[in-house]
Amino acid sequence: TTLSFDTSKLASFVGEEELSMMQPMVSVADELLRKGTGVGSEYTDWLHLPTQYDKDEFARIQAAAAKIQSDSKVLVVVGIGGSYLGARAANDFLNDYFANYYGDEDRDFPQVLFAGNSIAPAYLNSLIKLIGDRDFSVNIISKSGTTTEPAIAFRVFKQMLEEKYGVEGARERIYATTDAARGSLKTLADEEGYEEFVVPDGVGGRFSVLTAVGLLPIAVGGGDIEQLMAGAAAGEKAYADADLSKNPAYQYAAYRNILYRKGYTTELLINYDPTLAQFGEWWKQLQGESEGKDGKGIFPASGNFSTDLHSFGQYIQDGRRNLFETLVRVTEPVTDVTIPTMDADDGLGYLQGKQMSYVNRTASEGTMIAHVDGGVPNMIVEIDKQNEFALGQMIYFFEVAVGISGYLNGINPFNQPGVEDYKRNMFGLLGKPGYEELTESLQARL
Ligand code: PA5
Repeated sequence: TTLSFDTSKLASFVGEEELSMMQPMVSVADELLRKGTGVGSEYTDWLHLPTQYDKDEFARIQAAAAKIQSDSKVLVVVGIGGSYLGARAANDFLNDYFANYYGDEDRDFPQVLFAGNSIAPAYLNSLIKLIGDRDFSVNIISKSGTTTEPAIAFRVFKQMLEEKYGVEGARERIYATTDAARGSLKTLADEEGYEEFVVPDGVGGRFSVLTAVGLLPIAVGGGDIEQLMAGAAAGEKAYADADLSKNPAYQYAAYRNILYRKGYTTELLINYDPTLAQFGEWWKQLQGESEGKDGKGIFPASGNFSTDLHSFGQYIQDGRRNLFETLVRVTEPVTDVTIPTMDADDGLGYLQGKQMSYVNRTASEGTMIAHVDGGVPNMIVEIDKQNEFALGQMIYFFEVAVGISGYLNGINPFNQPGVEDYKRNMFGLLGKPGYEELTESLQARL
């Protein structure tokens, strides 16, 4: 199969009977999720997205991607949180890592660059410099349509587009992905006549990568979104069984909860390839926003190895024992490097002629054993190839697992009340109309 889940390195931490004792709880969690009787069930439409998506919109996404590919050298994707992390992760994973750094003549697809995911002015200015006088389009993505970071960046790019192409020309280059009915972005897009795509009501930001939110930027970057959906559909089929012994995604959810109750409160998603680093960022939002509430939850972190083995690797090996790791790896390398054979006194003679991928994989094995010996439980999620199908299946694996995992821990995995708190304070301090009282009370506390 495309994805395998290996828990053999948990043997010294979790007994077999511990997993089977989770079955009754997992059955309840499964029912809450599948029958829609759990809290937050109004946000579980992502469950069937891989098979029940809007096919007409999908075709419009492909047509828009083809248009952008033909008339733009750059697509600026404006969004934050769930409105950019999935596309960014997918584009890094599916493309040549340095694709965005090559000149236009050496790239097959437009540069896909992200804005509105911070409020740092220098970032925006350098992005504008990078675009230069090249042709570009903008995909503004905001489910609520009211988030400050992307709204500010969008204003800047809207103005740039209008100056460059005129108001009419700009309209042809702006694509708005937002709620079907509500929000300032929806109102603006209707008024201006932008091409619109929908973030479905029943899909929260962090579960939206398989909607237009992720699909348009991924398609523009050259990703095969049909294969992505096909892989996710394979996941929808493979991870639907309430029987723990037959469902690796549910096993992952159950093991995480077993470990959590033993005091392993931080999970590191580990990779050995920079093309997976952004996947770790997507996963951190998925886990953290789903599970971190009511004073509970596993803290999601990530490790980019072997790079980080030379930094906080020391902590993982010998620090406080509340960590566990989930390694994400790909069996077949996209390309390889043969270690040169030469007459050199660099101590590398024993590796010459070997493949770098072999060394990388061996590093992951040696590290895993060392970490397990040091008291860090390890699990492995392995996909066979670095392609769209495998990515789709892996996305679905983690999505369904976090739903089950959240219900096992007695929380609502599908809301994010905590994200609103900072937004409210920011509105108060910036003097947004309607927040006057808050403005005063916050200013008094500064
Ligand atoms: O998951 C969430 O709700 C958040 O992280 C959002 O994705 C983020 O705040 C962006 O929100 P919006 O798409 O409404 O602009």
